[in-house]
Amino acid sequence: MASDNVKRITGSEILSEKALSYKPLKGKTVLLGITGGIAAYKAAVYSRKIRALGARVIPVMTCHATEFLSPITFAALTGEKVYTDLFCIEGAENIPHIELAKSADLFLVLPATANIIGKAANGLADDFLSTLLLAFSGPVLFFPSMNPVMYAHPATQTNMERLKTLGYGVIEPETGETACGDSGRGRLADWPVVKEPILKATTLQTLKGINVLVSAGPTREYLDPVRYISNRSSGLMGYAVARVAVRRGARVTLVSGPVSLPPPPGMKLCPVETAGEMGDTISKLSQNVHVIIMTAAVADYAPAARADRKIKKDTSELRVDLVRTTDILSQLVKDRRDGQIIVGFCAETQDLKAQAIKKIRLKGADLLIANDVSRPDSGFDALNNRVFIVSSDGDIEPLPLLHKEEVGEKIWDRIQNMLPQTV
Ligand SMILES: Cc1cc2nc3c(=O)[nH]c(=O)nc-3n(C[C@H](O)[C@H](O)[C@H](O)COP(=O)(O)O)c2cc1C
Repeated sequence: MASDNVKRITGSEILSEKALSYKPLKGKTVLLGITGGIAAYKAAVYSRKIRALGARVIPVMTCHATEFLSPITFAALTGEKVYTDLFCIEGAENIPHIELAKSADLFLVLPATANIIGKAANGLADDFLSTLLLAFSGPVLFFPSMNPVMYAHPATQTNMERLKTLGYGVIEPETGETACGDSGRGRLADWPVVKEPILKATTLQTLKGINVLVSAGPTREYLDPVRYISNRSSGLMGYAVARVAVRRGARVTLVSGPVSLPPPPGMKLCPVETAGEMGDTISKLSQNVHVIIMTAAVADYAPAARADRKIKKDTSELRVDLVRTTDILSQLVKDRRDGQIIVGFCAETQDLKAQAIKKIRLKGADLLIANDVSRPDSGFDALNNRVFIVSSDGDIEPLPLLHKEEVGEKIWDRIQNMLPQTV
């Protein structure tokens, strides 16, 4: 039962909770090339989302793209002039496609038609967008979107391969029903899949070559086939830690308890249910890993027995014997390979600092991230978190209330300083 000072938040409160502002693209300029595909409307939505991440978004539309959406839409959504015409030059010294190419950090072609893919693969430059692509020397990401038969056509496939050999990023479209009613691969990816390569392309690859294992979410300890003991962990913190590692170039495996979050792109996901399964999976995967971060809220106790059939209700009380589960963090420290960095999380409702220092000494982890789960605005289920980073020498770094992705960044900043220079 909850003690009086432990404030609970409900599902509807979580939905209404406001994520703190998180602007990983602050100070960046993104060129958004929109071509004449049906998914141009998604570019309108995504332009706002990229802007919300802190970037200045400058739209460039092909002539055919303006058949689908008006430049006014993009001007209003981005607050910028929309470039469409190669020869609309106001001053002789300011050639827009050259100036824009110099000023931007990232170029997205979204949606990318079969036509622009073919043109860019062959270095053609017959309009503003294709000419700007040749004049731009920074990272470019293409987001192909088209009818599945057009997408599967050998010419499209060959052109996409050529784009990759030219050093461009190509983000595969999704499989499903496309706007024309056909089913197959060709649908422009949803925002979470679009967002990650954008953030990766603008992030220093400080974890390149590093293998990372992250655990996340709760575990379920079954009483019978339909009932289990679990906890309020949503997986948000662990998924954020894993995403930040992918953005910094790490190879990431995420061992996740049951959560209602979509599978994060760019990493290997291993779903598990019980503490036992989580322990076994992590122990199998931990050998070739440089950094392990245990954000999962693993059950400390599990029912001593799991009934094969649903336990029937009767008039008497039901007593359940609980037994200790294996302490995964302690086991990992015991089996630690040379140089492996092990980071634990602890969730407390009282004496947070004292409990964290006690726990890091007891378990032997390199860092312990302590979160106060009694607060309604941080910890379990919340979009933001307020944590202390405790190191093995007892040093405590308190962090303010931050968006969970920013907490993930701070944790990785600390771990990066602990990694050997050559891995
Ligand atoms: C209704 C309609 C929808 C279209 N949707 C797509 C599409 O999703 N993807 C694509 O590659 N081409 C699509 N096309 C074809 C392109 O508009 C056409 O190839 C055009 O030349 C592309 O020009 P651009 O790449 O310069 O914008 C569509 C055409 C029409 C009429």
